[in-house]
Amino acid sequence: MAAEISDVGNVASFYEGLGQVLNIAWGENLHYGYWEDDADDSTVEAATARLTDLLISLLDPAPGAGVLDIGCGVGKPALQLVAARKARVTGITISDVEVKQATQRAAEAGRSDLTTFRNADVQDLPFDDDSFDGAWAVESLLHVPDRGRALAETARVLRPGGRLVIADTVQRPPLDAEARAVLDAFRTSYHVSAYATADEYRGLLTANGFVDIDIRDISDKVVRTGMIMADAVEARRDELARIDGPEPVDQYIGLMRRAAASPGIGYLVIAATRDPASTS
Ligand SMILES: C[S@@+](CC[C@H](N)C(=O)[O-])C[C@H]1O[C@@H](n2cnc3c(N)ncnc32)[C@H](O)[C@@H]1O
Repeated sequence: MAAEISDVGNVASFYEGLGQVLNIAWGENLHYGYWEDDADDSTVEAATARLTDLLISLLDPAPGAGVLDIGCGVGKPALQLVAARKARVTGITISDVEVKQATQRAAEAGRSDLTTFRNADVQDLPFDDDSFDGAWAVESLLHVPDRGRALAETARVLRPGGRLVIADTVQRPPLDAEARAVLDAFRTSYHVSAYATADEYRGLLTANGFVDIDIRDISDKVVRTGMIMADAVEARRDELARIDGPEPVDQYIGLMRRAAASPGIGYLVIAATRDPASTS
């Protein structure tokens, strides 16, 4: 338990350090972009919003539905979900800085009535059983030390029949030496827990009472993200280095380029339903 708490603290410091830098260079959708094909010249803002749109269509909440946003960042995906579907979103993150920023963004957007943001760890959710109609985890589960426990907690707070949508970077075996080296560097530098595989996700979801599991590998649609993100950070290197120092900025640029070039690292979008016949 002590190890987990310290891991979560490290992730929070990451989002309060380099994460803030990325917000400036990349934008407030702190997730990958979706480009249809090589001819698609959408901006980062449009491409990241398109990924959120895909997740909204998979979650498909009714107006007024209660949705848990696991790892909400600074609240941009939550606000897009509220604008599209008038859902009531509760966002959680383990960073107090992000809670404050998300709460402020929601107030500025006039959406405080439909959003709440608070500090909580997905491995130990402070909510009653069956509290939510839906949940999503957008690029947050990669950081979680015990993904099985996170999915057990998510199942517990979802009502039977509730939808879960996950977007995550994953490993795609077989891995060559370069892919292993990049994954190791992510683990040590960015507090990423071991990257999951598609099979591991299917197993964990099944073990935690999810059914109708739909796993899509959309790596080819999002692969441009790494290079563009590295370019965006590099273009503002000196300014960003003043916030968190030059070393993490340079290391990040190099690692994102290597990750983008490695077929061993992919991206999944997953939809599943908490078994309608289950009881908490
Ligand atoms: C890559 S960011 C994604 C943010 C947001 N979902 C988005 O798409 O803009 C990962 C988020 O997961 C959160 N996170 C990491 N570990 C967590 C945990 N154990 N419980 C809850 N949130 C966590 C981080 O604080 C951060 O907000």
